Amino acid sequence: MGFSTDCIHAGQEPDETTGAVSVPIYQTSTYVQPELGRHKGYEYARTKNPTRSALEANLAALERGKHAHCFASGMSAIDTVFRLLESGDHVVAGENMYGGSFRLFHRVLEKYGLTFSYVNTACVDAVRNAMTDSTRIVFLETPTNPMMTVTDLAACAAVAHERGALVVVDNTFCSPYLQRPIEHGADIVVHSTTKFLNGHSDSVGGVVVSNSDEIAEQIGFLQNAVGAILSPFDSFLVLRGVKTLAVRMKAHEENGVAMANYLANHGKVKKVYYPGLRDHPQHELAKRQMDGFGALISFELGSYENAKTFLDRVRLCSLGESLGGVETLISHPESMTHASVPIETRKRLGITPGLVRISVGIEDIEDLIADLENAFDGE
Ligand SMILES: Cc1ncc(COP(=O)(O)O)c(C=O)c1O
Repeated sequence: MGFSTDCIHAGQEPDETTGAVSVPIYQTSTYVQPELGRHKGYEYARTKNPTRSALEANLAALERGKHAHCFASGMSAIDTVFRLLESGDHVVAGENMYGGSFRLFHRVLEKYGLTFSYVNTACVDAVRNAMTDSTRIVFLETPTNPMMTVTDLAACAAVAHERGALVVVDNTFCSPYLQRPIEHGADIVVHSTTKFLNGHSDSVGGVVVSNSDEIAEQIGFLQNAVGAILSPFDSFLVLRGVKTLAVRMKAHEENGVAMANYLANHGKVKKVYYPGLRDHPQHELAKRQMDGFGALISFELGSYENAKTFLDRVRLCSLGESLGGVETLISHPESMTHASVPIETRKRLGITPGLVRISVGIEDIEDLIADLENAFDGE
């Protein structure tokens, strides 16, 4: 089926008992078993819940994978993937990624004996050179948060697979509408469903998708054993959000391109980071690998004072962490999403005091630009 059809129908057969067209919220913790040793496929709701199962089937289909498991947050989804590893295992990860992922790796997982090398994954040789005999995972985010660097997924997958490592891709920034990493060789895809998948800034969740029965079995075991599951109500919200993923992403994309062009031509903006701009260093790769350029844009205003004045003046755009909602969200990566990244790394990557990140929503673009115009010029 086509992508839009899958958004609406994959995993979402009408309810067997009533014919309800929307998957019901099965708000139950357990299921009555008709006799000892016999049940209807559901024993206890940490292990399995029909609302969550419907969402998992839906997201697996959208990512062109076979299996999905939904979690209480994007971070718990990522954490569960790393529980596939053992003390002494090594990970190659992007030097620029969501600050919370770096915090999990550096402050939590290192305590359990995992080691990490952080490299610029836009350079395939850097990934190759960082691989060791102990490397079990290559963890990629593309485009990166917030510098919008694009990584060649197929090339990195070839390097990782040569050494027997798994490729894990955080596809939160794109959603499967814009990029499906499994088609480029990824073994596991993770998302914060909090962002574009849910799309309405009213649920926190995560998902792990894979194409391998063996990986899925291990993730399913960990999901049940560790227990950070997505609730039935949140599963319902994400299912509801995903029904409009294709139409929302189309609108996000249109507004994203228009906003990037507006910012690139503004005299007070020193630099714009957006893979859709022709001067972006990986523009050609983005054109090949993605089905659009998305709605995340970072731009440099030159100083903390400039960024603060600008951010204090926006009205329609909401100042806040997160991204991917229908409403435009604007943030200051240095002090917000990436505060946990060491200052030297932030400096090296370009996460400066003057950097602003915008997640362009689906409002009328004229209103968004008028809001930014006022923020640049207002008193
Ligand atoms: C790229 C990316 N991955 C993962 C996460 C973590 O997701 P959550 O906030 O749902 O735990 C975020 C959150 O901002 C993110 O931007």
